[in-house]
Amino acid sequence: TANPGPLTIQADRPGPVINRDIFGQFAEHLGRGVYGGVWVGPDSKIPNVRGIRTDVVDALRAIKVPVVRWPGGCFADEYHWRDGVGPAAKRVTTVNTNWANAVEPNTFGTDEFMDFARQIGSEAYLSVNVGSGTVQEAGDWLGYMTSVAPASAARERALNGHKEPYRIKYLGLGNEMWGCGGPLTPDEYVTKMKTFAHFVHNQNPEQAAPPIDFAKIAKDLMTGKPMDGLPRNPNGMRRIAAGPNSADPSYTEVIMKAWKTRSPIYWDIDGISLHQYTWGSLPFAEPATNFGEKEYATVLMQTQLMDRTITKHSEIMDKYDPNKAIALVVDEWGVWLKPTEGTEPMFLEQQNSLRDGIAAAMNINIFARHADRVRMTNIAQMVNVLQSMIMTDGSKMLLTPTYHVYKMYVPFQDATYLPVTFGAGEYKFDKITLPKVDALAARGKDGQVWLSLVNLDPNAAADVNASVAGITANRADGEVLTAPSFNSVNTYSKPAAVAPKPFSASASNGKLMLHLPPHSVTVVRLQP
Ligand code: AHR
Repeated sequence: TANPGPLTIQADRPGPVINRDIFGQFAEHLGRGVYGGVWVGPDSKIPNVRGIRTDVVDALRAIKVPVVRWPGGCFADEYHWRDGVGPAAKRVTTVNTNWANAVEPNTFGTDEFMDFARQIGSEAYLSVNVGSGTVQEAGDWLGYMTSVAPASAARERALNGHKEPYRIKYLGLGNEMWGCGGPLTPDEYVTKMKTFAHFVHNQNPEQAAPPIDFAKIAKDLMTGKPMDGLPRNPNGMRRIAAGPNSADPSYTEVIMKAWKTRSPIYWDIDGISLHQYTWGSLPFAEPATNFGEKEYATVLMQTQLMDRTITKHSEIMDKYDPNKAIALVVDEWGVWLKPTEGTEPMFLEQQNSLRDGIAAAMNINIFARHADRVRMTNIAQMVNVLQSMIMTDGSKMLLTPTYHVYKMYVPFQDATYLPVTFGAGEYKFDKITLPKVDALAARGKDGQVWLSLVNLDPNAAADVNASVAGITANRADGEVLTAPSFNSVNTYSKPAAVAPKPFSASASNGKLMLHLPPHSVTVVRLQP
């Protein structure tokens, strides 16, 4: 296995800001993602604040969740928000047809979600029902959340306990419209989406768009200047169109073309969504535990494909939007594995191993390398579903290896990307060849240089000689996440089998050598 060559951080060539929203989360009404995982109800013996479990809130606060997407996923396009507002005793019970026909008590609705987002200190990303709902229903929902007195909707919200309008940072215009949200062709979707983008208003005065300068628009029209320069409220809500399924370019092409030729006075979007999961070689049945090196290497090799997919969509977007006004939002991603034995398969509960934490770090590094275009992502999902941060069982809670990666990466939130040059070395298994070490560097908001190093090789440590161009780095301090095996997992009896440990290195003979254990993620701050 080839070893990595010396690594230089180009601190003198700063790149774009790594938007903290790339560390976003996704919480769908699916299995025990919300009910049991987040919501236990105010009468539960499990400690809670207004029904929301305190242990989960505390853990999520620690990873500084920037944004959380809700209520789905596929659930969103069958969700009727009116079912989930008002006095708890009057809420209707419905059936979650997407996910095992589970009972949906609607006890966790709009106000509870907003309370949850506020408790964890996160922004809200709401997905409106485009598939089976109407423009009016979505508009009314926004009215309920964002209007101010004397509007009746604001009075209704106040009666439900929340006088002030809510802040909505992102609005999703449907979910997977090529699949569970439709199915629609890209052209059919654009026709439908435009009306949602046009009529669904955020009425929160703090988020309102600045007044339109008609004189300037008229001048632009007369001089043939493209009208993509309408003033934006930096605090305003951003609309995200439902976008492509993995590498399929059709939605990207059609939406971007429509955007380019739109009249921004009438409709606009700020991003398009991309969904790409990592399935392994046995989709929905790839083992989550007790797997071997073949499965390890296969999942990491597929994780690398995220880079190819983003590059492909970015190239299409560049044709229509070279200034990168529209963000590519990877609002569903993660490893999707075999459900845990004895659980309802459609609840998508799966174990989370060190390998999955490594895959999360590799994905985050890919997103950061595309920071100019990728400005939000939402891992699927937050609690108890797919590649979760947290698992719960009654009153018990555990943190997954993926959670630890998110915590270690907090310094990269809103940090400035710094290019890295190095020979990554090679890790080979059978016909698979991967870089041995994956690296990401950035200047944090604290002004410090941060470096993440992922050693993919499960059989050998890696020694990386790191330096910062123009600066003498004599120390590296941080944390390393590893475990006896790549398939190690945390369980309720051994919750810290995979947990970060302190890591430090100091220079000797002017060389700062970082010794990375096999299958590990290391995040350090470099210091003089
Ligand atoms: O995250 C689980 C499901 O995967 C979502 O509901 C859907 O959008 C996707 O297919």
